[in-house]
Amino acid sequence: MRHLMNPMDFSVEELDKLFDLAVDIEKDPQKYAHMCAGKKLATCFYEPSTRTRLSFETAMLNLGGSVIGFSDAGSSSAAKGESVSDTIRVISCFADICAMRHPKEGAPMVAASRSGIPVINAGDGGHQHPTQTLTDLLTIRALKGRLDNFTIGLCGDLKFGRTVHSLVNALARYSNVRFVFISPEELRIPGYLRDMLWDKAITFEEVIRLEDVMGKLDLLYMTRVQRERFFNEEDYVRLKDFYILNKAKMDLAKEDMLVLHPLPRVNEISVEVDDDPRAVYFKQVQYGVYVRMALILTLLELA
Ligand code: CP
Repeated sequence: MRHLMNPMDFSVEELDKLFDLAVDIEKDPQKYAHMCAGKKLATCFYEPSTRTRLSFETAMLNLGGSVIGFSDAGSSSAAKGESVSDTIRVISCFADICAMRHPKEGAPMVAASRSGIPVINAGDGGHQHPTQTLTDLLTIRALKGRLDNFTIGLCGDLKFGRTVHSLVNALARYSNVRFVFISPEELRIPGYLRDMLWDKAITFEEVIRLEDVMGKLDLLYMTRVQRERFFNEEDYVRLKDFYILNKAKMDLAKEDMLVLHPLPRVNEISVEVDDDPRAVYFKQVQYGVYVRMALILTLLELA
């Protein structure tokens, strides 16, 4: 039985197959409409979510399956002190596959070690968010036609942003991907990721001003400052509006540069950018449904 804890759990070849399946699902959704008939997905969300939980639920419903779960730890027996190990053993009696989000790093991994069904990490603290990475990679592959030979800027909260950590790990496996990390000093990319890039001799630079690098980017991955991971409100307030992508900054970018964002957005992308054809963050959400459908089919060994 396979789980998904980290995007690196799938080889590049396996990811290619997964993305091919997602593309086929997009082309011919009817072909897949009953593939999960009789199967149940449990969504166990100990942290807030809009996209990840609802796109998993939509994915399972699109496949003809059904969904159970909770979206608030306070309404589950976690509020009475139940451990994730016990909860997943219980959920294994009810469902065929589980997507779990938890504020504690490693909690889905603990659940997977005690589970009788595949567990998908739907985000664990400031650590990893592998299905967002699958979404990001599918979006890039679909809209750029490749996953290699580009310069990507990652901007904002690179310290706490789990989507950034997962994406950097995943993209480091493709050839000639150059990274530009754009953040204030306090929100720099973690040292272990810089070490990983150094070890692999992958080119990266760190800058503070977005304007200085806009012109050389093929992709810009914007992120929100993660209020829920800050130790004090004062630091959050000081840093939250450090970057605001607006029309003037978009004028400095290449004509075919794409702007991605895992969402939710707070202030870091002005709404005036939404109508720019290079802003693809809402298309990205749609790709998230296709790739989660492909993932459910793959982990249930139905495709
Ligand atoms: N991108 C993402 O994880 O969004 P949600 O927090 O709404 O699930």
